[in-house]
Amino acid sequence: MANPSQQLGVRLSLAIQQAFGDEFAGTDPIVRRSTQAGFDYQANVAMSLAKRVGAPPREVATRIIEAADLSGLCAAIEVAGPGFVNLRLEDEIIVGALTDSTTDPRLGVAAVPHPDTAVVDYSSPNGAKEMHVGHLRSTVIGDTLVRVLGFLGHTVIRQNHLGDWGTQFGMLIEHLLDQGWDASGDHAIADLDALYLEARTRFDGDEEFAERARRRVVALQGGDEQTLAVWRALMAESVRHLQAVYDRLGVLLTPEDVRGESFYNPLLPGVVEELVDKGLAVVDDGALCVFAPGFKRPDGEPLPMIVRKSDGGFGYAATDLAALRYRVGDLGGTRLIYAVDARQAQHFAMLFAVASMAGWLHDDVRAEHVMFGSVLGPGRKPFQTRTGDTVKLIDLIAEAETRVAAVIADKAPDLSPDERESVAHAVGIGAVKYADLVNDRIKDYVFDWERMLAMDGNTAPYLQYAHARIRSIFRRAEVDPDTLTFVAGAVQEPEERALALQLLTLDEAVDAVGESLQPHRLCTYLFELASLFTAFYEKCPVLRAETGEQRQNRLSLCDLTARILACGLDLLGIEAPDRM
Ligand code: ARG
Repeated sequence: MANPSQQLGVRLSLAIQQAFGDEFAGTDPIVRRSTQAGFDYQANVAMSLAKRVGAPPREVATRIIEAADLSGLCAAIEVAGPGFVNLRLEDEIIVGALTDSTTDPRLGVAAVPHPDTAVVDYSSPNGAKEMHVGHLRSTVIGDTLVRVLGFLGHTVIRQNHLGDWGTQFGMLIEHLLDQGWDASGDHAIADLDALYLEARTRFDGDEEFAERARRRVVALQGGDEQTLAVWRALMAESVRHLQAVYDRLGVLLTPEDVRGESFYNPLLPGVVEELVDKGLAVVDDGALCVFAPGFKRPDGEPLPMIVRKSDGGFGYAATDLAALRYRVGDLGGTRLIYAVDARQAQHFAMLFAVASMAGWLHDDVRAEHVMFGSVLGPGRKPFQTRTGDTVKLIDLIAEAETRVAAVIADKAPDLSPDERESVAHAVGIGAVKYADLVNDRIKDYVFDWERMLAMDGNTAPYLQYAHARIRSIFRRAEVDPDTLTFVAGAVQEPEERALALQLLTLDEAVDAVGESLQPHRLCTYLFELASLFTAFYEKCPVLRAETGEQRQNRLSLCDLTARILACGLDLLGIEAPDRM
């Protein structure tokens, strides 16, 4: 076990059980980093146990350490203040753990013993238009979760729940047919949004066209071959547009991950049948509805989930019911994750409630709505272009790269043109992604170029720079990091020790993201790591260390820091260039 604080936790937990009896088995001793000089950790459990045990906290703390077997693990233990247990690890334990981490390709992060099959629904834009900034968060957050869960050893199935079946397709197809589109041809649409706008304008201004467009929807959903052929060609174009954005952004989604709403069309009657057979769906005002307990309209009346509309059509809710059933029944999902903005909270709450009533969700399957706030512009107003349009994602990416390229031309003129381009890409995209991931996702955030590109602060460029700086130390030293090992004396200075302890807890940060699905926890960890590294590097000379051993240990700390930064950034979908 690489992480000594976990070992502390296990031993203290056992001690609690021994001191107070089996009903206290599994108690979390609440081990945290200590701020006391000379100590590494503190256990805070005594305060919360005192009441249950019926003894003052200091006495509880004393009984815990008397019962604890900390031999070989701790060099100093004391009860302090109202009942903290202060703990200092043996140096050899830390050095041993560092050595384990260095030789472990997983950097101390164990794979989970019982992997889930996680089905992650993310990005999921509407296929009729280009991706805009409103799709950024789902895409970036979802992709991080996919990476983290995969790294933890879960089976991950990506699902891009593309909106490819709505009524707007009638209008688009009709418009394309009027323009002489034939599905067998080779088509490229330069600007999907422009096409949408043309069709929309005709739809709104030309009743004859609007009528044809409505009939076209019926033909599409009824399976008319000519209509379907145009629709397929249109969707293929759409997916090509999407993929260009995904590739530029460096997210893992591929065309194979697209499972659009249309996929569920043939499954909808079966879903309805099952809900009717189970006595859950009832006709209300002509529509087939499921009423889940606890859901109310603003006026207090029960709020239904509409499974089939009164005109016989199926909507968003029905499709999601079918998708959920498919994800559990056919994909074998045990953890269903939906990265969708918070405005759909009620939809998902109701979806999960109805799915539980139907027995599709049960104790062995969890469903989670990973919700998030909005991206805002200056003054916390909606984020728009200067002319008031929605910002296309592809334009946002291009601007990020251009802005960074300008800085690089100024600050790192010695990079080759190719290198400049790839660094501008890595840093620009990295900054945009990180700014999205760094805050608690439930909050809105203001899109602010200055702040996200700052080299000092909790930003991607700061972390990338810390990584690149370490790599440059190795280039200057002409040392191959693979030849390094830790030796005794590696954690003498407080800055060395603090850095080391942080390096040994990557697993806690990654586990926390896997459990809570909150990527900012990993950002916080990485930022603390980079800050501790900066403090270490200022205080402890590396290449000019006093002894050969010290130099070797410090270089080893540098290398492990760089590897963990790169690994953490990779889990956030962010590149870590070797120079910048
Ligand atoms: N296409 C939807 C939208 O743009 C998001 C779909 C999210 N996923 C889902 N299974 N409902 O709002």
